[in-house]
Amino acid sequence: EKAGYKHFMAKEIAEQPAVLGDALRHYLRPDGSLNLPEELDFSGLDRLTLVACGTAYYACAVAKYWFESLARLPVEIDVASEFRYREPPLPAKSWALFVSQSGETADTLAALRYCAERVEKTVAVINVPSSTMAREADLALPIHAGVEVGVASTKAFTCQLLTLAVLALKAGRDRGVLSEADLAAHADALRALPGLMNTALGLSDDIARLAESLAEAQDVLFLGRGPLYPLALEGALKLKEISYIHAEGYASGELKHGPIALIERSVPVIVFAPHDRLFDKTVSNMQEVMARHGQVLLVSDAKGLQAAEQGTWARLKLPEVAEPFAPILYALPAQLIAYHTACAKGTDVDQPRNLAKSVTVE
Ligand code: F6R
Repeated sequence: EKAGYKHFMAKEIAEQPAVLGDALRHYLRPDGSLNLPEELDFSGLDRLTLVACGTAYYACAVAKYWFESLARLPVEIDVASEFRYREPPLPAKSWALFVSQSGETADTLAALRYCAERVEKTVAVINVPSSTMAREADLALPIHAGVEVGVASTKAFTCQLLTLAVLALKAGRDRGVLSEADLAAHADALRALPGLMNTALGLSDDIARLAESLAEAQDVLFLGRGPLYPLALEGALKLKEISYIHAEGYASGELKHGPIALIERSVPVIVFAPHDRLFDKTVSNMQEVMARHGQVLLVSDAKGLQAAEQGTWARLKLPEVAEPFAPILYALPAQLIAYHTACAKGTDVDQPRNLAKSVTVE
């Protein structure tokens, strides 16, 4: 079943170009138009609330950037365990969207039930079509990732992101923010992702070598800006859950507000920084780290590396990617870093201690 891979996680990481391609074919027609249910009309909405746990929550955190920038739609996000007990007021003209691989996570399900009578529409973005959330939500959208066995979520994360990206594009069209031409350009950018992901998978051996050093670390920091900020959080979560190394993700700009105190020679700092609008800002944060002898692993593209590789400990070169969708591509090195570091430490990658695949108790 592992199809020749050492772990399910390795197989599921490697499958991503194929499953993302499948998901794309479900949600994007060959002519570039979006294949989503008619009833999903975002035009009159005042707000969208996104709720989930863990990795699925970080997918929501990326999607917030997309709904705001591509559709000018106000978005609130929360982790389900907080949302459900806060009993938040919800505007009448709002929808609530729940993201869950299993569709069974207790806190997310409770949040869905809380919203059922309070919002216009509840939507479940799930991987398991027969799940409780799929049944109970007004509308269920499958992410088409296929069965995910590894406890650490990988392909479900990128397929969650893809489904949310398509929803954000639909919202952008419905709300008159995106033109037909804009939509076509974004659709092309999404369709380029499987090919770019294949290139990213080619970094696996380089990452395995870096992982020998990362496995020695006590603490690792991940930095990103804009939609790469939630990816920094996801990179840190993935590393801690399977390698048991303490890791934290920060918005690059937050560094000087506290976490920079942690920087010293023994602390690797992994920076996700495509050569985008915010690149120079991230680089200046990275330089602050290097000035304090932090060992920077810069994950960027050719332009970014050319501009900023000086003084870094290590570099990973990804292909260029359309700016909004960079987190979908950069997820792969984040996953591979965690995977190879865990392998270097010899931990149980597919069954990390204390964790369950589906968390059906709160
Ligand atoms: C991390 C991970 C967990 C899940 C979380 C939500 O790798 O797998 O953080 O993302 O427990 O699970 P689902 O998506 O099934 O609701």
